[in-house]
Amino acid sequence: MQTRNVLVTGGAGFVGSHLVDALVAEGHRVRVLDALVPQVHGANAVPRNVNPGAEFICADVCSRDAVDKALEEIDAVFHEAAEVGVGQSMYEIERYVRANDLGTAVLLEAILARQPQIKKLIVASSMSIYGEGAYTCESCGIVYPQLRPNDQLLDRRWEMECTTCGKVLTATGTPEEKPLFPTSVYAVTKQDQEQFCLAVGRSYKIPTVALRYFNVYGTRQALSNPYTGVCAIFSARLLNGHAPMIFEDGEQSRDFVHVSDIVQANLLALETDRADYQAVNVGTGVATSVRAVCNLLADGLGLDIKPEIVGRYREGDIRHCISDITKARKLLGYEPKVSLNQGIPELLTWVRAQAAQDQVVSATAELESRQLVR
Ligand code: UD1
Repeated sequence: MQTRNVLVTGGAGFVGSHLVDALVAEGHRVRVLDALVPQVHGANAVPRNVNPGAEFICADVCSRDAVDKALEEIDAVFHEAAEVGVGQSMYEIERYVRANDLGTAVLLEAILARQPQIKKLIVASSMSIYGEGAYTCESCGIVYPQLRPNDQLLDRRWEMECTTCGKVLTATGTPEEKPLFPTSVYAVTKQDQEQFCLAVGRSYKIPTVALRYFNVYGTRQALSNPYTGVCAIFSARLLNGHAPMIFEDGEQSRDFVHVSDIVQANLLALETDRADYQAVNVGTGVATSVRAVCNLLADGLGLDIKPEIVGRYREGDIRHCISDITKARKLLGYEPKVSLNQGIPELLTWVRAQAAQDQVVSATAELESRQLVR
């Protein structure tokens, strides 16, 4: 393995900080560029999770000067910096477009100004760009439905129905070729980040890989950020003795992937050229319902707190999306190693030692006031 000079944007964040740890452990020289966004890192943000073996620059990825400095002597870039709240992106649109789209644009221009210095670019993409996952219909075969119609949801019929024959659909693995249908501003910006990087990478022959992360969970996911993923949100509710609020009926499913498997995919993408210029799913291929995750968390914490099944829905929410990881296996040699049964106890050991502010009620009220929860 070649030792490299690596830049991780967003390297103080949830995924980025775990990635930095692994890169430092592998002997790479690592630099972090992170703005320490208060919503994620708290008001007087200190970079708690940045490996002492990495150099830290506190700056915004939209600042060209800071990005230029951060790129000095770098030969590989992992672009993890992003604003990540799906619901919030639907009203703080400028903030999301600025950080995610403009930030990526600034990074790419700064990279181009240095070519041929940068030999690899790996960008964090997201399953959110698919919208609904792939399904099978017993009469019509594989189908790629868009969102469930509002009438159906107001009727509280939660499962996907075939738009051709009306039968209830069964979720199946979502391959990378599934047409993209991002349903939030966040998801559109993730699609932009992925495609800006791939397009620029292809045109200028900078080997670039987009990794489409599924629902990532693990230690360091900001518990007090009510706009983050469901594992962190439920953990914050439970830690404060509150019942998690489950939208719909709790039978919607996701592909929960442990952060160490996301790190694994990133390291593999750095080492091989087989995935260059490709977008690749990173998940587990296993479906777990939101209700089951909630139970695993409550049981693991030894709490007899039953979730509140609210029977309402979030605008733009999908019903099921599970990864097809054939391509990751083939091109990266990726194999998920941590099952939920192993990953949740590890998460909870960390959760127990945290103080989390539960801001879920106010965040939900914010969405309700905008008719984004119905
Ligand atoms: C979205 C994004 C994904 C992003 C993730 C975390 C989409 C399609 N995907 O995923 O890229 O990584 O957010 O930012 O936009 N839920 C509850 N109660 C809660 C919170 C959530 O029941 O308090 C339910 C949701 O309704 C949903 C499921 O849990 O059905 C998962 O929600 P979430 O963790 O926000 O992730 P996604 O919406 O799948």
